[in-house]
Amino acid sequence: MAKFERRSWAEPFKIKTVEPLTMTSREQRERYIKEAGYNTFLLRSRDVYIDLLTDSGTNAMSDNQWAGMMLGDEAYAGSENFYHLEKMVQEYYGYKYLVPTHQGRGAENLISHILIKPGMYVPGNMYFTTTRLHQELAGGTFVDVIIDEAHDAENTHPFKGNVDLNKFESLIKKVGADKIAYITIGATVNMAGGQPISMENMKAVHELASKNKIKVVMDATRAMENAFFIKKREKGYEKKSIQDILKELCSYSDAATMSGKKDLLVNIGGFLALNDFEVFEEARNMVVVYEGLHTYGGLAGRDMEAMARGIEEACHLDHLQARIGQVEYVGNRLLELGIPIVKPIGGHAIFLDAKQFYPHLEQTKFPAQTLAAELYLDSGIRAMERGIVSAGRNKETGDHYYPKLELVRLTFPRRVYTQAHCDVTVESVYEVFQNREKVKGLKMIYEPKYLRFFQARFEPL
Ligand code: F0G
Repeated sequence: MAKFERRSWAEPFKIKTVEPLTMTSREQRERYIKEAGYNTFLLRSRDVYIDLLTDSGTNAMSDNQWAGMMLGDEAYAGSENFYHLEKMVQEYYGYKYLVPTHQGRGAENLISHILIKPGMYVPGNMYFTTTRLHQELAGGTFVDVIIDEAHDAENTHPFKGNVDLNKFESLIKKVGADKIAYITIGATVNMAGGQPISMENMKAVHELASKNKIKVVMDATRAMENAFFIKKREKGYEKKSIQDILKELCSYSDAATMSGKKDLLVNIGGFLALNDFEVFEEARNMVVVYEGLHTYGGLAGRDMEAMARGIEEACHLDHLQARIGQVEYVGNRLLELGIPIVKPIGGHAIFLDAKQFYPHLEQTKFPAQTLAAELYLDSGIRAMERGIVSAGRNKETGDHYYPKLELVRLTFPRRVYTQAHCDVTVESVYEVFQNREKVKGLKMIYEPKYLRFFQARFEPL
């Protein structure tokens, strides 16, 4: 351990195939971002230099995964790759039943439809955009029960993904357990900054939920990264393998929705995993309507094979050490430069605190959206807004939600960028920080009805 601290680490892979990047001039970028309505989601990827928009589906697959792609069994029914994936999910996550879906939101749609009846509540450790929308579309109301520390960018609680058990219990008392469809547990919590939940808290949530006959649905999208943080930070887990920690974590839930596009090192894929046979039967039936037959769920056989192989690779300690180590490297350099970021440094991304970056901009001038646009203008780096635009509107009052966290996410695709790319990123953030006082904010000129952050358009004030 001490040895690791003194010596540098390096990526546990070497590069076999490369993809050239385009460099652009400031003049070009001014044109491109204007055409994109100052929304980084609307930029063309060819006009982006370092793409830190998301870690979703942007991973580099291994030679072993690519080899698996050649073994795709593209039968409509009963594909071999489905059985391989099912076996790997059972072995690593520990759930009994598997329903593949094209990506995470496909699984969210299924579970929301099956378990939520109109008028029910769905508590969760902070919202995620697609998860909450599916809950709302099914007639549910999301209730945030994460600990208060999670809403404070400066707070260094090691498990900011924890549920506040008092908040959860008060909700049960207030609305009654039969009005609670289930509780969603994000591991890690994306919108809080990639922050983990502790094993102790997960266990306590499960106990309280079971006592009240409430199901626990885990969002396992980045659960391996969560397992890594438990190993590093929670007493009693230092010597346990990631695989054992992951399995224990999942054992405190009844089902999991999964976006394989993150942890599992693929470009597309997801699943719903369950222990309850009746819910599984319904999901297996419903998947035919929305995704495809229950042995492919909207995926090609080859995609299921790549995901099955990804499960094993992603669970390696070396991989997680390098993956989270890269994020940590960028975070620590930014901290040394005095840049305001969410602390502690999370698993998949660095979150710049736009409120501290631009204290002179009110939230209705979209500080995080503005910062993402400024970064692109400076260097062609693409980041993502995770603030008031992502939070959307309250369906009752029609007003914006005003999240405490107004963030810009620099998200790191797995196994894609080098340390030099990281250095360029740090230098660009520093440059934008130096020029922060000149910035005036944005005005929204087009707002879509659902998940507005993807397609909204803006103009400089
Ligand atoms: N849950 C979490 C925690 C996520 O981060 C995402 C996706 C999903 C569910 C939905 O999965 O995209 O496969 O349908 N997050 C991406 C991101 C979009 O950039 O953070 P999906």
